[in-house]
Amino acid sequence: DAHIEGDLTRVLYSAEDVARRVTEIAAEIDEAYRGKDLLLIGVLNGAVMVMADLSRAMKIHCEMDWMAISSYGSGTQSSGVVRILKDLNTDISGRHVLVVEDIIDTGLTLSYLISNLRSREPASLEIMTMFRKPEAQKNMVKVKYVGFDIPNEFVVGYGLDYAGHYRNLTSVGTLSPHVYS
Ligand code: PRP
Ligand code: MN
Ligand code: MG
Repeated sequence: DAHIEGDLTRVLYSAEDVARRVTEIAAEIDEAYRGKDLLLIGVLNGAVMVMADLSRAMKIHCEMDWMAISSYGSGTQSSGVVRILKDLNTDISGRHVLVVEDIIDTGLTLSYLISNLRSREPASLEIMTMFRKPEAQKNMVKVKYVGFDIPNEFVVGYGLDYAGHYRNLTSVGTLSPHVYS
């Protein structure tokens, strides 16, 4: 289908569902970081959509910075060894840092990232993710803000990609098998 929406077999969350949840979390962040010097760190590329919406749903001051990382190893299995492709422009020492992610799957990416960021001695370090899969609990990543806990299915949309596509889908859902073939 020329229209990306047509490649979904099932919509898990509509654009409205996502927007409503993002607004709720933004209000929690406004409350938690009121009067603090907040730095949002987005993990490229997936977090672009949630970063754009979450930051604009917030009413408090914040800055934004970005990291690009790539996990070593081939295939779909994450190895947990991560390479920094683009580091932060900002010195985070003494800053209140909130890492923004689209999804935590195995949690391996984030457990590496968090220990790396922690060594830079921020004043505080928390995580917001729009989606989280069950596997993530195994890797002991403590997440302060979760949009939705989702089943262990391959989903696309709202930043989540299949081979680089479908990030611009406003809803989130499962991909039709015909796409893979
Ligand atoms: C995806 C997703 C998270 C990470 C989660 O990024 O955006 O960053 O995988 O996986 P994990 O919890 O199993 O480590 P990906 O590496 O696909 O890059 P992308 O954001 O550019 O799509
Ligand atoms: Mn990512
Ligand atoms: Mg990806």
